[in-house]
Amino acid sequence: MPTDLTPVDESLAEALSAERERQRETLTLIASENHASEAVLRAQGSVLTNNYAEGRPGERYYAGCTHADEVEWLARERAKRLFDTVHANVQPHSGTQANLAAYEALLEPGDSILSLELTSGGHLSHGHDATAVATHYEVEHYHVEPETGRLDYEAVAERARETNPDLLVSGYSAYPRRVDWERMQAIAEGVDAVHVADIAHLTGLVAADIYPSPVGVADVVTCSTHKTIRSGRGGAIMASEEYAAAVDRAVFPGLQGGPLLHNVAGKAAGFYEALQPEFEAYASQTVENATALGEHLDGRGFDLVSGGTDVHFVLVDFQQSHPDLTGQRAEDILEDAGIVCNKSAVPGDPRKSTVTSGVRLGTPAITTRGFDADATRRLADAIADVLDSPEDESVRADASGTVADLCTEFPVYE
Ligand SMILES: Cc1ncc(COP(=O)(O)O)c(C=O)c1O
Repeated sequence: MPTDLTPVDESLAEALSAERERQRETLTLIASENHASEAVLRAQGSVLTNNYAEGRPGERYYAGCTHADEVEWLARERAKRLFDTVHANVQPHSGTQANLAAYEALLEPGDSILSLELTSGGHLSHGHDATAVATHYEVEHYHVEPETGRLDYEAVAERARETNPDLLVSGYSAYPRRVDWERMQAIAEGVDAVHVADIAHLTGLVAADIYPSPVGVADVVTCSTHKTIRSGRGGAIMASEEYAAAVDRAVFPGLQGGPLLHNVAGKAAGFYEALQPEFEAYASQTVENATALGEHLDGRGFDLVSGGTDVHFVLVDFQQSHPDLTGQRAEDILEDAGIVCNKSAVPGDPRKSTVTSGVRLGTPAITTRGFDADATRRLADAIADVLDSPEDESVRADASGTVADLCTEFPVYE
């Protein structure tokens, strides 16, 4: 596909083609990334990039929206089936936009939010100081227990009573365990707050029914569409009847103009794939691979935040086992060996967020390539070898060899 551009724009064609090669020849362990199917890529690269379709299907502010309507209906109806929800809005441009729209729908400026702090596994869009969320709302945080890396629901309830928020956020970027959504809803109700569950990371696991769903429990559920579900970049919001109209108004005209309909088409294509029976097997294998990865690294002497995982990634904490190794250095040397992951703060991390003391290793993309637990353990050995000998280039060269073998055995974008 990218090569079609060559006659018109050689530089761009080269960059796109090189990126496709990079994805073929390296192993992506970034927990928030995946490899979308050719069908999703085609939908996203379609003529719908040309359309303006402000409004909602059947109620547009522009002419020429007949087919845009069909596409958005498909995405919306498929989201409703996947998440068993009465209302879905598939227009948010991203997970962050979905969260902003949820806040806009449920809060007044100056209201207060209680959310998990970043180094405990929260997300910027849950109210980090550097974001517009913190400009528009008062933000307080709760934390995971530093010793266990887990949520202590009694402590969250206590924090809620102390801070009396208008809105409680659950759902996280780097929390490897199950969340008790009912408990979080009860905590919110206990202080008369609304509850937004952000399943950005868990979208595919929830859609496949292998992780408990907050839909029907939390007041509003937000997600992104490109992590454990492979529907191309974007966001979506699920809401009860009570909040449906407010959510729709918050997305448009509250925060966005015309929807990115080519991305909505990608969502429709990816949601269709997620409704097929094979998707459950994919999602289960993703978690099985993360478990295998964690157990193998644990066996090689690495510490995992919370001792393991229930989801699609593990969070490795170097502080005790490899005190001189930073998340940044680990990210760099693993990338040298063709293993692409991201540094991550760990609970109570004393290092800056640009350095950190850990890495997050996710299995959605390697599982899309067809990895099983055995292949994942081979990769885990290569990761452990590189991290145990950060200065040894020959170890890195051996790991690169393993990566090349695995990429050949489990190809993507052939
Ligand atoms: C919990 C959570 N919410 C929201 C987002 C934001 O998603 P996006 O990058 O699509 O804005 C992320 C991204 O990683 C996330 O982890």
